[in-house]
Amino acid sequence: MNDNNDVFSINYKKSLQYWADIPPTLDGVLGGFGFISDVDIEGSELFLKALFSSENPPSTNTALDCGAGIGRITKQLLLPHFDLVDVVEPDEKFINSIKEYVGELASKLGTLHKVGLQEFIPKRNYDVIWNQWVLGYLTDEDLEAYLIRCRDSLSPTGIIVVKENITSSGKIEKDSTDSSVTRTFKQYIRIFKKCSLKRIKQCKQTNFPNEPNINGVCHAGTN
Ligand SMILES: C[S@@+](CC[C@H](N)C(=O)[O-])C[C@H]1O[C@@H](n2cnc3c(N)ncnc32)[C@H](O)[C@@H]1O
Repeated sequence: MNDNNDVFSINYKKSLQYWADIPPTLDGVLGGFGFISDVDIEGSELFLKALFSSENPPSTNTALDCGAGIGRITKQLLLPHFDLVDVVEPDEKFINSIKEYVGELASKLGTLHKVGLQEFIPKRNYDVIWNQWVLGYLTDEDLEAYLIRCRDSLSPTGIIVVKENITSSGKIEKDSTDSSVTRTFKQYIRIFKKCSLKRIKQCKQTNFPNEPNINGVCHAGTN
């Protein structure tokens, strides 16, 4: 696995180091924007419910929360809907705080994978794989390989959800502080196509505060 990628300035060790210094709190995982969590979850809930009412809905057996942080999405969105939720999160302190943060629904937590998505290999068939505010830490090459592994692990009506910020400038933006990139909408579409993912639903998160760096577009794809 490449630790460096000159084109996108992504360095996995550097982003791990960045997150190692961040406290395991809502404000921590949301970069000081903990107050947007409720609005974000409401938008995601609407999106997920629309998927459940679609013609070919995903089952509600197993979900995967990727780049889970302290388990914000696992707790508030996925555990109430799915029988079992696995998580992937490389930061030790975050992964160690998930059970306590999740609280009473912790019995429905499955495997907590302490690994980066670039190395993660799914071991179950998932109904929903939720990726939020994490794919900017992967190089294009690793992102494509990862999405293909996710695609191949989906249950028959399984769905991959991607909820990521996109740039309004139409150009990729690099952040050397946490060694991440914000991609353009077109770049994501090109990557999904390369991975033979079919885009079945798309929507823009509304009601986020007027901050230039927060937005969110949900895409749901299946193979
Ligand atoms: C902005 S936080 C978002 C957390 C969570 N998705 C949420 O919305 O509450 C980014 C998370 O991605 C994790 N992360 C960073 N690089 C990663 C990688 N290569 N693979 C998986 N997770 C990564 C960080 O440790 C952190 O928990």
